[in-house]
Amino acid sequence: MDLSSDLGYLKHKANEEIHMLAHGAPIPMTARKSGPLIGEANVPGDKSISHRSLILGAMAIGKTEIHGLLEGQDVLDTAKAMRAFGATVTKQGDAHWTVQGVGVGGFCEPKDLVDFGNSGTGVRLIMGAMATHAITATFTGDASLRGRPMARITDPIALFGATAHGRSGGRLPMTIVGAKDPVPVKYSVPMPSAQVKSAVLLAGLNAPGETIIIEREATRDHTERMLKGFGANIKVEDTGEGRVITLKGYPELAPQTIVVPRDPSSAAFPICAALICEGSNVLVPNIGLNPTRAGLFTTLRDMGAKLTYENERIEGGEPVADLRARFSPNMRGIEVPPQRAASMIDEYPVLSVVASFAQGQTVMRGVKELRIKESDRIDSMAAGLRANGMSVKYGEDWWIVDGRGISDVPGGGLCATHLDHRIAMSLMILGMGSNKPVRIDDGGPIVTSFPIFEELMAQLGASVWRENS
Ligand code: S3P
Repeated sequence: MDLSSDLGYLKHKANEEIHMLAHGAPIPMTARKSGPLIGEANVPGDKSISHRSLILGAMAIGKTEIHGLLEGQDVLDTAKAMRAFGATVTKQGDAHWTVQGVGVGGFCEPKDLVDFGNSGTGVRLIMGAMATHAITATFTGDASLRGRPMARITDPIALFGATAHGRSGGRLPMTIVGAKDPVPVKYSVPMPSAQVKSAVLLAGLNAPGETIIIEREATRDHTERMLKGFGANIKVEDTGEGRVITLKGYPELAPQTIVVPRDPSSAAFPICAALICEGSNVLVPNIGLNPTRAGLFTTLRDMGAKLTYENERIEGGEPVADLRARFSPNMRGIEVPPQRAASMIDEYPVLSVVASFAQGQTVMRGVKELRIKESDRIDSMAAGLRANGMSVKYGEDWWIVDGRGISDVPGGGLCATHLDHRIAMSLMILGMGSNKPVRIDDGGPIVTSFPIFEELMAQLGASVWRENS
């Protein structure tokens, strides 16, 4: 196949997306059969905790110190936004940042559009945080973010008294007029979403009385844990209805020193690569095993992956371990329990890659949230796997990958990543184990969450590179 004409075809297909890229020209990439992968993979800081450190730091009075901040584009966009709302955010050194906060209720009105690039977490959390201030802000993002639904945020913030004016279907660009006299809210989150839960909690900070959130399925709980750390009065109870979270409004948040743990969602990539590349033995130190995030690791172990936890310990109140992944030629497909979905929602794309190298079917159900991530992740991965000789079946909220075993994944495909960092990285992992190289039209979005992906994978011994360099 002629690479330039292939790329031309994909560019034509993804024309709109490519031309609307907020962060530069497309970066085609290739990965080919690799291994053994050997060594230590020091993945960057957790994206969810990095966003929250900046936002809560901005809502505290005084100076918050953050060590180990993820310096990915999504988090940098949140830092820029917090400056636009009045906080002083300063990079002090490598992954060391400070935030001089303005206090709960202290946001000022941004003087310009607030552009969140690719980041759903950034825009949704900050829409919540500003919704109970008497200010107006207009939000936008790249083509991916402008396609994602925001009604899940504008519905609950309307209960506080905020109004939203967006494009049809509740899409960005969107102007939020914050509530002048916010009222507290009791809200049952209709979908498993930590972003929605967090937006409501952040709005509740600047409302009187108690804001109550009911969560039927537990999602990542970093906002609750960190609010407690910043001194908010917050109570979490497990009841017959689900988790009930009660937050008292108008706290005075005290600045903190935060050490951001490494990101389990980024750790997933070197771990999964090691499982499928012959002879590999990779240690990924200091990974948080918060049960609301660690579903992938349990699933891989259920599939027969040689994945072990070393040096298990508690750090900052969270379970942490060093994860060791070894080449695992005898993995089996399994039915992933749907109740585990929220704890591994960002990891299904890379799980579908590992499933390709297992024997038998891997069945993933109860995952319709995947359809509204940075891309429709069921469609994106099904197309990517099929382009590389795999058989995938899917419906609205399920998909099934027919594993071909460790040495029989064909590869050879050129795939569209649809402005989605996790699709790009997952397909590069596929190429590290498949018989022919795998190519992607654009690895540019990888910088949103894992800016050192290529460098780190290459250090371990993987063959992954940019086409034009
Ligand atoms: C996140 C929540 C999840 C996840 C996203 C980060 C967060 O999104 O997919 O990458 O930091 O709160 P949803 O709330 O849409 O499930």
